[in-house]
Amino acid sequence: MSTKTMTVAGIMSGTSADGIDVAVVRIAPGRQQPKVTLLAHEGFAFPAPLRRAVLAAMNAASTSTAELARLNWRLGIAYAEAVSATIEKHAVKLDLIGCHGQTLYHQPQAASYAGRRFGCTWQLGEPALIAAVAGVPVVSNFRPGDMLAGGQGAPLVSLLDYVMFADPKRGRVLQNIGGIANLTAIPAGAAADAVVAFDTGPGNMVIDWLAQELFHQKFDRNGDLAAQGTVLPNVLAAALRNPYFKLTPPRTAGREQFGHEYAAKFLTACQRQSKKPEDALATATALTAETIAQSYKTFARRGMKGSPVDYIVSGGGARNATLMAMLAQRLGPMGCELAASEEFGLPAEAKEAAAFALLAWQTWNHLPGNVPKATGAARPAILGQVTYA
Ligand SMILES: Nc1ncnc2c1ncn2[C@@H]1O[C@H](COP(=O)(O)OP(=O)(O)O)[C@@H](O)[C@H]1O
Ligand SMILES: [Mg+2]
Repeated sequence: MSTKTMTVAGIMSGTSADGIDVAVVRIAPGRQQPKVTLLAHEGFAFPAPLRRAVLAAMNAASTSTAELARLNWRLGIAYAEAVSATIEKHAVKLDLIGCHGQTLYHQPQAASYAGRRFGCTWQLGEPALIAAVAGVPVVSNFRPGDMLAGGQGAPLVSLLDYVMFADPKRGRVLQNIGGIANLTAIPAGAAADAVVAFDTGPGNMVIDWLAQELFHQKFDRNGDLAAQGTVLPNVLAAALRNPYFKLTPPRTAGREQFGHEYAAKFLTACQRQSKKPEDALATATALTAETIAQSYKTFARRGMKGSPVDYIVSGGGARNATLMAMLAQRLGPMGCELAASEEFGLPAEAKEAAAFALLAWQTWNHLPGNVPKATGAARPAILGQVTYA
């Protein structure tokens, strides 16, 4: 490879719409895989009016063209400010940036529109603003390239998961719990094309909505509210019958499946069984834990072939102690050792951002970024587009 070592920032803002994570990594070419080292990580909460605007645009049945154009620009400003603050604080000099953008709509399945059938995806956040402020090229818009190769456009973290966590002796599951939860399973000694990756289902999305609706809190800090409730078994059993959980991977989920509408119905079902609001939170937390454990059992466990498995959790959900306890209870008996991403040198919030730094480096070097087995693509694809500074 004629590639060189670069310092790359990855910018991520996920479906929780909580804010922006920036990870700065050093990426060095290796014989087979690049070597990725985390240099710095910072998180930035969205200012309240921007968060409202993002949530409104994500959940709106209709919105205006001017609103979307402004939001695209405003997000670009927020990303540019986040990356500037990070490089200033850590005194790093960047060579390249990868920006995921804010997903407003993701529809991997083909549907008819204006006389043609197709799937589509849309991430906002004007990259030209970031390039102008940071003075280095920005790679953005990663998902369409995978969809045009026949993939679902997600999950795209699989390459980083493989590069950083594959182990010759131990199976590794990388479980990210953001708004949506997704896993990458890497059997011991596996080649990159043997990984399994897919969205397990809701992560914090239903929990967050209930915390807001019932307790006027952005999320259930540490899972303290859920810890005071009791899981409602009938509601949980009914929720588990959702056809999404029966889908064979590749599969992806978003607000389209588990957003406000879903959460409101879930709450109504809880309220029919119990007047205690904490019970709804306990049940939503159990839904996340149970769908993660069932997903692993049905679609990933067989490939692990009896070797010990580290089940490594990242994303904001790793901070929810009640959720982590529920996960340990279910995954332990399946031979998995639950761990937080920190224990492997990568803070829980930094992983997805680091993934988009690596994807930017791949694209810059004309290398593919998707793992076809993970997204369901027919071929490897070079992802995204470059905006020069
Ligand atoms: N201390 C905490 N206790 C419980 N949950 C937390 C905590 N910190 C973050 N979270 C959860 O993590 C979510 C954000 O996770 P993140 O990985 O950024 O998701 P996304 O990629 O969807 O933005 C929050 O909305 C919240 O539900
Ligand atoms: Mg987030």
